[in-house]
Amino acid sequence: MVADVLRSGMLVQGEYVRRFEEGLADYIGAKHAVAVSSGTAALHLALIALGIGDGDAVLVPAFSFVATANAVRLAGALPVFVDISAEDYNIDVGLLEKTIADYSGEARLKAVMPVHEFGCPARLDSICRIAAKNGLMVIEDAACALGTRVNGQHAGTFGQCGCFSFHPRKSLTTGEGGLVTTDSDVLAERLRLLRNHGLTRKDERIDCILPGYNYRMTDFQAALGINQLGRFNQSLAGRRALVEQYYSGLADTPAVTLPEKKEGHAWQSLMLVLRQGSLSEWIKAARDQGIQLGAGAQCIPYTKAYGMSEGYGVAHRCERQGVAVPLYAGLDAGSVDSIIAFFRDRA
Ligand SMILES: Cc1ncc(COP(=O)(O)O)c(C=O)c1O
Repeated sequence: MVADVLRSGMLVQGEYVRRFEEGLADYIGAKHAVAVSSGTAALHLALIALGIGDGDAVLVPAFSFVATANAVRLAGALPVFVDISAEDYNIDVGLLEKTIADYSGEARLKAVMPVHEFGCPARLDSICRIAAKNGLMVIEDAACALGTRVNGQHAGTFGQCGCFSFHPRKSLTTGEGGLVTTDSDVLAERLRLLRNHGLTRKDERIDCILPGYNYRMTDFQAALGINQLGRFNQSLAGRRALVEQYYSGLADTPAVTLPEKKEGHAWQSLMLVLRQGSLSEWIKAARDQGIQLGAGAQCIPYTKAYGMSEGYGVAHRCERQGVAVPLYAGLDAGSVDSIIAFFRDRA
């Protein structure tokens, strides 16, 4: 299919991107799907399209990949961090409500950006209720959440926009790539303009309606995505089976705490929290046995860019003690058994 793209002569945002968008809109259950160059571009574009910028503030979870907060900053707005729940690593809904009630900053609270961390469904029912009560928009960071469902409904379809990533760490990858979903015709039109320099074409005349970006996806990337989308449910089922195996092998191990096993989880990653030893010791010991463990996500407010040092204890612990175990298509049950044995033996 990638060779077909080369032969087509239309390498960027052509027929394959259109087909990929159609397939994703259908799979996710959104009216519009707008493909872009990355998950970060998706978040940035969604914020800009919704008119969020200077003088505005957006509530974001303290534990995520830094792009969640960076996108808010790059749009000119202020991220307001909320700590997470230790059970599922998602935004703590009680704290979200309290943060909004206690908020006294100068920037206007405009939106909440929940993350479905590692593919785990965030509590969108409560989050949407709190947002509506406070006149806030909801932009879902569904970067890890293709296949994630909240009460049966696909992640990315609850708020004004849903933003997905197709980075290689995700369950469906186009190398780099992203997507914005929305049910609004007006927003979709704006997103399409903004991803392509704000250009329109009428009667072969090109005009620039508003200053936009080059956030286009290539047809090569889309061709890779179309191919994987066809067997995505199978790949999800494979990941779920591996996760079940990890849970039955590790549930009673004193070395680690497992997250809550939530209905609708797409298991992009499985992060355990270590109860003993340091993350680097565990990663090194695993490497010596040929096992590749990884870090989970960041406590964003404590990074140099955001410069804070207190107030986000759960996110901080999850960053320091969180360890992602191997989980990918093609990982065999025997390897999972060896990884389980590694954790059990060191406990
Ligand atoms: C929660 C979250 N948000 C945003 C992003 C950014 O996506 P990308 O790497 O495609 O720009 C990621 C990617 O890793 C992510 O995990």
